[in-house]
Amino acid sequence: MKIGILTGGGDCPGLNAVIRAVAKSLILECDAEVLGFKQGFLGMIENKYRQLEYDDVSGILTIGGTILGTHNKANPFAYFAANGADVSDQVMENYHQLGLDAVVIIGGDGTMSIAHKLAQKGMPVVGVPKTIDNDLMHTDRTFGFDTAVSIATEAVSRLQTIGESHGRVMILETMGRYTGWIALHTGIAGGADIILIPELPFEIEEVAEICRAREAEQKFTVIVIGEGAKVKDGELVVRETIDDSPDPVRLGGIGNYLKQQLEPHINSEIRSTVLGHIQRGGTPTAFDRILSTNFGIYAACLVASGKFGQMVAIQDGKLTSVDLEKVANQTRYVSPDCLMVQAALAVGSSLGQKNL
Ligand code: F6P
Repeated sequence: MKIGILTGGGDCPGLNAVIRAVAKSLILECDAEVLGFKQGFLGMIENKYRQLEYDDVSGILTIGGTILGTHNKANPFAYFAANGADVSDQVMENYHQLGLDAVVIIGGDGTMSIAHKLAQKGMPVVGVPKTIDNDLMHTDRTFGFDTAVSIATEAVSRLQTIGESHGRVMILETMGRYTGWIALHTGIAGGADIILIPELPFEIEEVAEICRAREAEQKFTVIVIGEGAKVKDGELVVRETIDDSPDPVRLGGIGNYLKQQLEPHINSEIRSTVLGHIQRGGTPTAFDRILSTNFGIYAACLVASGKFGQMVAIQDGKLTSVDLEKVANQTRYVSPDCLMVQAALAVGSSLGQKNL
């Protein structure tokens, strides 16, 4: 058996743990030969790969990033180096010439959509859900999320002591391109006073009112805001699509925008921090190491049993798999009525239109 493996899209804590688990299980259980494509789909397009022996994937469990490299714009159906041409036939040919039996594709929403299209062309693929944003459909968790939330939560705690000492409003902008999972979990774990997420738009004046009320009681305020958060009926439309348009909000970030807008309305000093890629780099948490390892082993089982066109998932604590078709081009949003939103409200955090 000869298996390819690649990591697509942005890097994420836990990628190496998945590579290790897939390769070790297939080598040990099936005596498989494993090829690692370099720089995601670019490796498949340009036939760049390396053999992964058992020793090559030993000692990488705790290392952040991906030993294979990745490329967030490489897409066989729109190859940037060929004016966006569809080179998927070439990719299929490369796959056959290498004598592969299957490819394990680790990535987020964009990567899973490409995996689905390759499966439709006849490539036996298994997907593994990766993203710190935790927003892939039909899986309760993606690996990388726990690490991002842990780092962001520590940032909140550090900002809290500054807010308390100076009586300031401290804003932390977290990642989460379209969804508020990181901001919501971070806000609850860090005890934020206001949590702003894309799914529950807010009004500047309402946020200002809460800050003023807290000022009147000599209380500082911590606000956690997801990068995709939106102003209700406002002039802002932030990151509706993945594009590179240089709109000022995106350049400065919604956290800095909120600071600017709040300043005329409240007396306290305001400081805004954009946490950025710090929440995506480095070693995975214990939870993510375990989840990634389990995902990798399950992906290897799917390969060994010939179950393709599937993405590994975890649902209600159980490992399972779902058709890639159901995951491709989908986003799992925070439901305004979900338990986590209720939990945040129950401990007194304000959340966008829910109670601002
Ligand atoms: O999807 C993961 C993510 O980290 C988002 O939270 C963020 O919006 C985006 O990727 C950043 O992408 P890049 O690393 O290309 O700037």
